[in-house]
Amino acid sequence: MAENSAAAGLSVGIIMDGNGRWAKKRGLPRTAGHKKGADVFDDITRYANEIGVRAITYYAFSSENWSRPKDEVDAIMDLFGQSLKRLYKYRGENNRVVFLGDRTPLRPAHQDMMNEIEHDTSTRTGMILNIAVNYGGRQELLRAARQIASEVAAGTLAETAIDEAAIEERLYTKGQPMPDFILRTSGEQRISNFLLWQSAYSELVFTDVLWPDFTRNDFDAAVREFRGRDRRYGGV
Ligand code: FPP
Repeated sequence: MAENSAAAGLSVGIIMDGNGRWAKKRGLPRTAGHKKGADVFDDITRYANEIGVRAITYYAFSSENWSRPKDEVDAIMDLFGQSLKRLYKYRGENNRVVFLGDRTPLRPAHQDMMNEIEHDTSTRTGMILNIAVNYGGRQELLRAARQIASEVAAGTLAETAIDEAAIEERLYTKGQPMPDFILRTSGEQRISNFLLWQSAYSELVFTDVLWPDFTRNDFDAAVREFRGRDRRYGGV
């Protein structure tokens, strides 16, 4: 089934947006939207795995999301912690889990789980599940630039050896395929500091569906839209 799927082998980025609006429409607290959003995250991850997606990258929490009210940030972090516990259950599957972003301000217990999950799944050959938490594309590029600068200063990297591959090796997504398409839900049409380097040639797919309402059929529709695009990579 996976080999025949239109999604087989694809790398997909997802900006999960619209949780707050979904809750507001129902007269619920914003956190209810995040809770339903976390369920959708689980379901779409399982589906992507089943249909042979090569890599899926979720924007769970941006570097800028700390500016939200404290109770909302706490609720998102609680949900992230619950999600980490569920990820241990993926142990029986062949997924490799990678966390993108600066994890140092996260709760120590979460950091421990993240390190353990990443370590335990690092040699797996199935779908790569990337979760961006306290992630920003600019921050990721700054981090790569600083690493390169210190290696040049230490004499371990020649200035002439700084090329695109040298930058890619210092991104959180090192060694991974670039996203074929990036999907954003909820009708917003922005990249919002997500995968800035990696998205250079990604198709952008937008849907009005709010993330908590997003279904497997909506994922299929996004793949169909991507398949209908003509990718030229700057050629003709
Ligand atoms: C965007 O909707 C969503 C977020 C900023 C948080 C996403 C978090 C989760 C789905 C749950 C926890 C994470 C995982 C990995 C399970 P919004 O709040 O910006 O919605 P709005 O634009 O309608 O206000």
